[in-house]
Amino acid sequence: MRIIRAKDYEEMSGLAADIIAEVIKEKPDCVLGLATGSTPLGVYEKLAAKYRAGELSFSRVATVNLDEYKGMGREDENSYFRFMRDNFFSKVDIRPENTHIPDGAEEEEKACRDYDRVLERVGRIDLQLLGIGHDGHIGFNEPAEAFSKTTHCVRLTEETAEANSRFFSGREEVPSYAYTMGVGSILSAKKVLMVAAGADKARILKKAAEGPVTPAVPASILQFHPDFTLVADAAALAELRG
Ligand code: PGA
Repeated sequence: MRIIRAKDYEEMSGLAADIIAEVIKEKPDCVLGLATGSTPLGVYEKLAAKYRAGELSFSRVATVNLDEYKGMGREDENSYFRFMRDNFFSKVDIRPENTHIPDGAEEEEKACRDYDRVLERVGRIDLQLLGIGHDGHIGFNEPAEAFSKTTHCVRLTEETAEANSRFFSGREEVPSYAYTMGVGSILSAKKVLMVAAGADKARILKKAAEGPVTPAVPASILQFHPDFTLVADAAALAELRG
């Protein structure tokens, strides 16, 4: 596990974008696993800036997103489909047909099965970008009794629903369920890159990076990944030993 210390959110975003850009330059037709949430927004801005500057093209890149709310159609303003389109895909030269997100409007079994087929078809993820939830979730893999392997439907924990309510008009608007890529699929990525910022992530980052590997802290499994990089700001790393 490699930890890269950034002084602030801006630097964290730039360093993470540089790592992703390297992967794309080395393999223009790479598969990127992407994440939603506030933390990766800066990374997407930096990547879009590289595209505008003519340094980077996404024309052959394929993407697979981690998750989507169950019951949410693509055009719903709170869907992750919209989030990715508005915050990233519309700002670079990626081909929409090369971008993939679980279908929130589809019923559970089909949505999960179809998404696992997509993952199989696009091939091994070259780099998976992740944020981390306050409860240690990655994607929507919440604390559980076992690590999940493939795409499945999860019930959001109260903590996650509360945290995500800032994107909605109120807590009661937050969907109760989501479809998420499994921890097994995340772990099979060649590289995993996690971004974290802010003092509110310090406690969980310490647990995830230095605590026991347990499905009660899903992100802790990344300690076993052979190519895992954490890029975080000083506030988020404040409780780590090293
Ligand atoms: P955040 O979400 O980046 O909005 O804090 C992280 C996550 O839930 O993965």
